[in-house]
Amino acid sequence: MSSPALQAAIFAAGAVVGGGITALIASKRQRPADVPGTLPSSTPALSTVPPPLLELGSRGNAQITSAASIAPLAATVLKYGNPGPIADLIVRKAYVAAYDRRLRHPAWTAEHLTLASLGKSALLPPSPTEEAGDRNKSSFVEDQSIPVPFQAKLQDYFRSGYDRGHMVPAADAKFSQDAMNETFLLSNIAPQVGEGFNRHYWAYLEEWCRRLTSSFADVYVFTVPLYLPHRDPDGKWRVTHEVIGSPPNVAVPTHFAKVILTSKPSSPSRPDILELATGAFVLPNAPIPDDTPLEKFAMPVDAVERAAGLTLFSEAVKSASKHICKSTRCEVIVRRFDDAKKRPEMRRAISAP
Ligand SMILES: *[C@@H]1O[C@H](CO)[C@@H](O)[C@H](O)[C@H]1NC(C)=O
Ligand SMILES: *[C@@H]1O[C@H](CO)[C@@H](O)[C@H](O)[C@H]1NC(C)=O
Repeated sequence: MSSPALQAAIFAAGAVVGGGITALIASKRQRPADVPGTLPSSTPALSTVPPPLLELGSRGNAQITSAASIAPLAATVLKYGNPGPIADLIVRKAYVAAYDRRLRHPAWTAEHLTLASLGKSALLPPSPTEEAGDRNKSSFVEDQSIPVPFQAKLQDYFRSGYDRGHMVPAADAKFSQDAMNETFLLSNIAPQVGEGFNRHYWAYLEEWCRRLTSSFADVYVFTVPLYLPHRDPDGKWRVTHEVIGSPPNVAVPTHFAKVILTSKPSSPSRPDILELATGAFVLPNAPIPDDTPLEKFAMPVDAVERAAGLTLFSEAVKSASKHICKSTRCEVIVRRFDDAKKRPEMRRAISAP
């Protein structure tokens, strides 16, 4: 069971955001048809505006193609000022992500892990060592595909007291140096407490996600930074979080969620029928004792969605899947002694940027 305080916090966050989502779903259902042009022309609603076309730039960043793709009304209103997107869609070799321009860290990251993607497949020969990724050969870099005013900077993390925490772990991108390097872009990084969290419990959770590939053919991992409210002595709910950098630039999440979906053939005779399992774990950005059971952090996927303002899985997927902890053991393996060697960049984090 998760702690009542955390549960209260995440549901309070959900209550605030959830109303809007429910209303949105309801209004979608009430619309007779989603066919463009069926609405009376006298009521030009914004919903008839085609969504802006996204185009992937050469660096994997998304851009809105042109004002011409926006319907005339929007083009008129936005003639002198178009606020633009608040998140950048990022497509890399090992992951897909959205970078939150306001918070200067990912809004979410998504990965598809398999034995093959982790270089552990018995069917495929191991990739030649000169091609495989080695984290010693990667270093943290500012992401130049993000507009300069919204970039997270190395200087922001310098002497902040926080680790540069990977959202997509470097170890998930061992299949090539290029892919691993991309996990070191600061657009894949958020400030994480080092001791007891990024270097320990969070790393055990990342390792558990990778280990799922030995039981499930496909593993999908979403990593979501969260800002959850806490109840103050006056009874009111508030979100408080630090912002690092001088001037302050990168927001420090209060919590991080890993949301998992696994799939495997339900039986060898019916490889076409897939068995799905899902699970969400919400961890505080704080030291966590090694002996804490992983199941203590289990949360409904819906709660994470409402807290983050994201829709991760469809209702169909949710109702067709069982809980991951009913499909496999939700148990992390504690590795206290070899982590410093495995994560040498943690030590470098205290040197000058
Ligand atoms: C990475 O570098 C550290 C020293 O900085 C060394 O101890 C370790 O063996 C290296 N790892 C690999 C895989 O080369
Ligand atoms: C990876 O990054 C390192 C350090 O930033 C750089 O020296 C190296 O050339 C990069 N490798 C690849 C394959 O991009």
